Amino acid sequence: MRLRTVDPNDDQAFAGWFSVVEASYQHDRPGERNWLLEELQARGRGSKAERFVDVAAIDDGAVVGAARLGLPLLENLRLVGLSQLAVRPDRRRAGIGTALLAEVERLATAAGRDLLEADLDEPGWPEVPDPGRIFAGRHGFECAQVAVRRDLTLPADRERIDTLEVQCRRYVSGYALRTWRDRCPQDLVDDRAVLAARMSTDAPMGDLERAAEHWDADRVRDREGLQLAQNRSWVAVGAIHQASGRMVGFTEVGFPLRAPERGYQWDTLVRREHRGHRLGAWMKVANLRQLADVSPVTTLVTTWNADDNAPMIAVNKSLGCAANGALTHWTKRLGDQR
Ligand SMILES: CC(C)(COP(=O)(O)OP(=O)(O)OC[C@H]1O[C@@H](n2cnc3c(N)ncnc32)[C@H](O)[C@@H]1OP(=O)(O)O)[C@@H](O)C(=O)NCCC(=O)NCCS
Repeated sequence: MRLRTVDPNDDQAFAGWFSVVEASYQHDRPGERNWLLEELQARGRGSKAERFVDVAAIDDGAVVGAARLGLPLLENLRLVGLSQLAVRPDRRRAGIGTALLAEVERLATAAGRDLLEADLDEPGWPEVPDPGRIFAGRHGFECAQVAVRRDLTLPADRERIDTLEVQCRRYVSGYALRTWRDRCPQDLVDDRAVLAARMSTDAPMGDLERAAEHWDADRVRDREGLQLAQNRSWVAVGAIHQASGRMVGFTEVGFPLRAPERGYQWDTLVRREHRGHRLGAWMKVANLRQLADVSPVTTLVTTWNADDNAPMIAVNKSLGCAANGALTHWTKRLGDQR
């Protein structure tokens, strides 16, 4: 077996790498759609904020294992995000995962980074311990955060949504909503950048070691450009504080245009000073209505919430979201540079 990096611009090599990511996911969550090839390929080409290195384990000409390193470029310069670590189901328990991880650590250290962070999808959480959990523990990772996955089946229960909206309206005087799709309106983009920065400091982080992120309008536009390059669309709602004219909260749901049946709840945030007005629920209800108009074929929206994020979990439960496993976040400090 040999390990080699995969160029995301080499379609054939990338397709081989992707086939293992997909086979592994189908083994663990059969029949469920995961990231599409084009989403992972476009992201893998990198952006101003992050560069990626994809590694393939190849045996007898076939890809049998995959891993992706993500290197943040603007902040969190100690960090490497390990994602898509996957071994073809028929080749597991033969040391391929261990070999890939050793290569990931070598590349991370060579890039001057000393902190690894890995995500692990655990469909059976909390009842069934995932093999990846045993693997991660065996290799010196510690669980730094549990993000419970919740799914909302669409169309949402109309009565439930209408009732929730009526309840919200009692608290939201002084605020108005704006909606948009695929591109934040120019007059809101500076506020959107402020909210993105707040996302990095205000969302619960568990034991993850993350620095505050610096955002401006250009970074917002770069991120939008990446989403479009990934062939994604999204709907968004912003909460406007009418006295100041500032956007003080937002929520976004994205979906891949080639397979829009499943959408993903992206970020939601309300600035601290404006919490307690039910803006989170109000924005989410409005965005579900917008999603139903724009993409009626979307029948599932998946969201992940830190298990200690009580306010967000309460909102999602009130919408009718049901728990479905967890995404756990693991960290490992690397060797000598500690
Ligand atoms: C996790 C994963 C990458 C491991 O790959 P692998 O090639 O099977 O791993 P290895 O053979 O190198 O296993 C190393 C050790 O991990 C532990 N381990 C791995 N799979 C295990 C399982 N199914 N049950 C119990 N322990 C397991 C064992 O301690 C194993 O050592 P051993 O075989 O000497 O007992 C693979 O199961 C996979 O692709 N899972 C789906 C995606 C995933 O969970 N990725 C991990 C993200 S952190």
